[in-house]
Formats: sequence, C-alpha cells, structure tokens
Amino acid sequence: MYRSQRLALRYLTAAMVLFGLMVVFGILASIYYVHPTFLLNTFNFNTAKILHINTLIIWHLMGFFGAVYWFLPGETGREVEGIALAEIMFWVFCAAVAIVAAVFIFVQYGASDEFSMWFINQGRKYVEAPRWAAIGILAVALVFGYNVVASAVKSTRRSGILMVLIFDLIPLVVLYLDAFPAMTDMSKDLFWWWWLVHLWVEATWEILIGCIMAWALMELLGTSRRVVESWLYVEVALVLGTGILGLGHHYFWIGTPGYWLGIGGFFSALEPLPLLGMVIHAIYDSGTRHLRAGNRPALYWTLAEAFGNFIGAGVWGFMMTLPQINLYSHGTQWTASHGHFAFWGAYSCGVIAVLYLAVAGSRERKALDGRAWKWSFALLNLGMLGMVGGLLVAGMDQAFFERALGGSTWGAFIALQHRPWYVEGMWTRMGFGVLFAAGYAMLMYDVLTIGKRRRGEAEEPLKEAAA
Ligand code: HEM
Ligand code: HEM
Ligand SMILES: [Fe+2]
Repeated sequence: MYRSQRLALRYLTAAMVLFGLMVVFGILASIYYVHPTFLLNTFNFNTAKILHINTLIIWHLMGFFGAVYWFLPGETGREVEGIALAEIMFWVFCAAVAIVAAVFIFVQYGASDEFSMWFINQGRKYVEAPRWAAIGILAVALVFGYNVVASAVKSTRRSGILMVLIFDLIPLVVLYLDAFPAMTDMSKDLFWWWWLVHLWVEATWEILIGCIMAWALMELLGTSRRVVESWLYVEVALVLGTGILGLGHHYFWIGTPGYWLGIGGFFSALEPLPLLGMVIHAIYDSGTRHLRAGNRPALYWTLAEAFGNFIGAGVWGFMMTLPQINLYSHGTQWTASHGHFAFWGAYSCGVIAVLYLAVAGSRERKALDGRAWKWSFALLNLGMLGMVGGLLVAGMDQAFFERALGGSTWGAFIALQHRPWYVEGMWTRMGFGVLFAAGYAMLMYDVLTIGKRRRGEAEEPLKEAAA
C-alpha cells in the first residue's frame, strides 16, 4: 500500500468518528422538538444543531480527502507528492476540529465582538468554526490541493478525471473564503453566504463526487476509462450549466432584486437533469457487468449514491425550487427534509462506498463477509427515508396551514406547533433517527471486523464473485 492510501484510511476513520458524533447531536437536536425544555440553559437546541451540521460538513470533507488520497496513487502510478506534509496536516485538521468542538460544547457563545469571531464562533451556518480554525482548515485544503496538482505534474499519466478534479479544487477552496468576512447588512451577508452553500453542494462538491464515483466505478466494475470519462464530461457540463445560475433559487426572499425569481426558478428547475444522467450512467456501467462485483457492499452504496443524489437533491429540491412553491415552503421542515435526503444521497452514500473499497483493499483477506453490511445498509437507508418522510409531512403542514392559510403570522406559527401532522412528523423523525443510529452502529461493527470474522461465512461472497 502507498503511504497516501494509509493516510486515506486515517481520513476515513476520522470521518466515521465525526459521522458518529453527528448522529449523536442529531438525535439530541430532535429531542427538543418533542420536549422543548430538554436540557434548557445547559445544552440548548442551537448548540446541538451547530455541532450536528458542522460535523456534517467536516466528516464529508474528510471523506472526500480520504477518497482522493486512496485513488490518487493508482491514477498517477506513483506516491503522492508532498505526502509527509499531508500526514502532518491530517493531525492539524483533527486537532482543530477537536478544539472547536470542545469550544462549541463548553463555551457555546460569546459577546458580539472580534474575540468571539476569532475564538468562539463566526456565526455563518454550516461553517461556524472560529477564524483561527477556519484558517487552519484553509491551510489543510491548500496542502491537499498542492498534493493533487504536484502529483499530476510529476506524473506522466494525466487522466481526464484528474484534470477535472484539479479544475474543481480551485472554486471549491476559493468559495470557503466566504466563511470569513463580517457583514452588518443581512441581505448582503446571505447573498454571499449562498455562494458557499449552494455553489459547494450543487456545483463543486457534485463534480468532486463525480470524479470519486468515476474512480469507484472503474475499480468496482472494471468499467473502461473512456466510458467513465465521457459521462463525467457530460455531467460536469450539465452541473455547471444549471447549477451556477440555479444559485438564484436562494435569492427569493432575502431582499435581492426581483429578476432572480425567473433566473433562479428556470435554471434550478433544470438541475435534476445531470443527476438523472448520473443514475443512468451507474445503471449502464453496472448492467454491462450484470451487477456483479467482488465488493457488493461498495456496489450497493454506489447505486444508493446515484439514486439518492437524483431523488434527494434532484426531486426533493425540485419540489420547492419554483418561487410559487418556495414562497410557502421556504425554511420549513420541508427544507430540512430535502437537506437530509440530499446530503445523505449525494455525498454520504458515496463516502461509504469508498470506505468499503478502501477497507477491502487494505485487509489481508479481501473477503466482505457476513450479513452485517446488509443490515447496516437497510437500517441506515430506512432510518433516513423515515426521517425524510416525517419531515416532509411536517413541512407540508407548515407550508399549507401556517404559511398559505395562516398567512405566515406569529399566531399561525404557534398554532402549528400543536397540529397533529406536525407533531407526529417530529416524533417520526426522532424514532427513525434512532433506527438510523442503529444502522450506524452496525456499519462500524462491520467495517471494523471485516476479514476477521468466521471463515465459512467469509468465503461465501468470494465464491460468488469468482463464479
Ligand atoms: C440520527 C439521525 C439524525 C437526526 C435525528 C437528525 C436531526 C436533525 C435535527 C433535529 C436538525 C435541526 C433541524 C431544524 O433546525 O429544525 C437537523 C438538521 C440538519 N441535519 Fe440532521 N439528523 C440526523 C442525521 C443527519 C444526516 C445523516 C444528515 C446528512 C447526511 C443530516 C443533515 C442535516 C442538515 C443538512 C441539517 C440542516 C437542515 C436545515 O437547517 O435546513 N442529518 N438534523
Ligand atoms: C447534493 C445536492 C444538494 C444538497 C446537498 C442540498 C442541500 C440543501 C440544504 C442543506 C438546504 C438548506 C439550506 C439552509 O437553509 O440551511 C437546501 C436548500 C434548498 N435546496 Fe438544496 N441541495 C442540493 C441540491 C438541490 C437541487 C438540485 C435543487 C433544485 C432542483 C435544490 C433546491 C433547494 C432549494 C429551493 C432550497 C431552499 C429551500 C428554502 O427556501 O428553504 N437543492 N439544499
Ligand atoms: Fe441551491
């Protein structure tokens, strides 16, 4: 194994630890919705939510880094350039995350001044880390960028996938600068904040996961590079063509000019197209191999990624992307339903697919034994679908009764808190969240014990693969 691949395993391990913390804080955050006085003034909802969504971003970034460090040496045929620096940065990253998490948990908030911005919380949703830590994350990302670019430059093999990845890294890192400035005008602040949120998840991250899944499909199914790269170019063109101006679907109700209604509505409505392309691509590749892969968990998670991306991001996003709907659905649990489904489908499933490829590639016996992976696959996806369903019902109740009929008044908001559909949605989310947590536990059990369990069980998938 290359050093870079050992670093990849470390990144994937750190990602899974943070994923676990994210689940814990998610379940905590869901309790306040059914018990509003839960841990009141000790550990409030906002603290739990900040921890939930910041660990969300960080574990995905770590998962992506892990995936790239895993595939890169195979792609360039050599050890990653500057690997020693990358290894140091991994520990810098972990230390920064641990300190920030401790500050979020124990300090929680500070005065509205420069000190708080530097050392407690910058206050921009999803990227709340204080400035010193944000600078650290930027340094980690720059070293990562250097590793990828320098490896490509030093190698004689420069594939299309690698070039797409390199061009994608530039906007991906530059957009993170959006976490820094302090603005006093709410409209301007939101205007720029959406560049980060939207152009990350609906443009740069989509291209990044496109590159990662392209490598995964080649390793998993032996699909030809020509086929995978042709698809990748089409997807990238479509993602950029629809996603960049699709940004306008967040410019509806924050004080931006009215022309964004048309621009945002039109381009964002086209955004599901590239995601549908990715589903067709994955099915096409799997079909050519009759769904046979030595690594079945990775294959299942790859297909879950393709469908989850299309349905969670494409279909769930499409539902409320036109201004006529968004007028009522904006910022309701409907949004949270889409946010969960999209992140899970597009990104988490992809990271888990790579995790299985990396685990199988790094253990002595490449056996993916037993039934544990099936249980975790079922529990995690069922848990997520249950949460998404509960939130959708609650969110539609909010959109119809609080917003449309109730006229978005404070009274309507209060009345909504007792409506059965809403209340049941909150309980459903919590219940399925526990199921999801069980799936997470099963996933950890599986990846930690793969290749170490009973022999007989272990050989079954190997025989199948050989057949
Ligand atoms: C045990 C499982 C989980 C539970 C119980 C849970 C619960 C919650 C809760 C209560 C919130 C706050 C919603 C609000 O502000 O009203 C939240 C926000 C969020 N969660 Fe989760 N979550 C879980 C897993 C996940 C996973 C796996 C993902 C993505 C991969 C995710 C992504 C998000 C996002 C993006 C938000 C912010 C949504 C928004 O503000 O619109 N969560 N979650
Ligand atoms: C993987 C891709 C995607 C991810 C991870 C994602 C995630 C999210 C999240 C977390 C939010 C809530 C942001 C917040 O207020 O905190 C959001 C909002 C939104 N998303 Fe997506 N999304 C994706 C793709 C899409 C697509 C393709 C569409 C449209 C076709 C879409 C339409 C929307 C809209 C309209 C909102 C605003 C909802 C509101 O006004 O409350 N999203 N998305
Ligand atoms: Fe968006």
